Amino acid sequence: MKILGLCGSLRSGSLNAAVLRSAAELTLPPRELAVDPGLDRLPFFDADVEQTALPGVVAELRAAVGAADALLIVTPEYAHGTSGVLKNALEWLVGGGEVAAKPVGLASASPAITGGDRARAWLAETLAAMDARVIPRELRIPQATLRIAGGRVTDEPTLAALAGLLDDLAHAVAEAREDSDSLAS
Ligand code: FNR
Repeated sequence: MKILGLCGSLRSGSLNAAVLRSAAELTLPPRELAVDPGLDRLPFFDADVEQTALPGVVAELRAAVGAADALLIVTPEYAHGTSGVLKNALEWLVGGGEVAAKPVGLASASPAITGGDRARAWLAETLAAMDARVIPRELRIPQATLRIAGGRVTDEPTLAALAGLLDDLAHAVAEAREDSDSLAS
């Protein structure tokens, strides 16, 4: 099972990138978690460019998303929403259709007590518009500076919750496969 991790923060000391790093370390064969190299490589979405000359980096992102069985998206909360880089990436992915029916797990880390709840809610709405299968379990990490250090999640209950999110994502992949098998037969 291949999971692709997307991070909405570009900051070198990102709390959310640390969540993705820890998720990769919790993922053992036969599961794999590959972290996207950085959504800042994408140009701003432009429907004219999409129609006339799709940038190679966008085609690569679409292919990576298409090849993944599931997505794990971690988002910072900026001004009560998700980040511009993440929304921009999703806009490029609308036209490709690779996100449709794809199981998606959401996590957010914030120094605030609200844990990025509004950013995840915002993302879930966008992903619903793209027909993604956002799994019911989400991971909120409030007061994240107390739970993340040295680029890793250090808080045991948070690590357990992250492992639970990955398990639920794996179950969603199995369910999606059963659904497509029963449609094919
Ligand atoms: C923030 N931050 C923030 N936090 C939050 O919980 N709700 C919010 O609406 C905002 N808004 C916001 C706007 C801007 C412009 C900045 C720079 C920051 C704080 C934010 O959660 C914090 O910087 C996180 O550490 C960002 O995530 P990464 O980069 O650590 O993953």
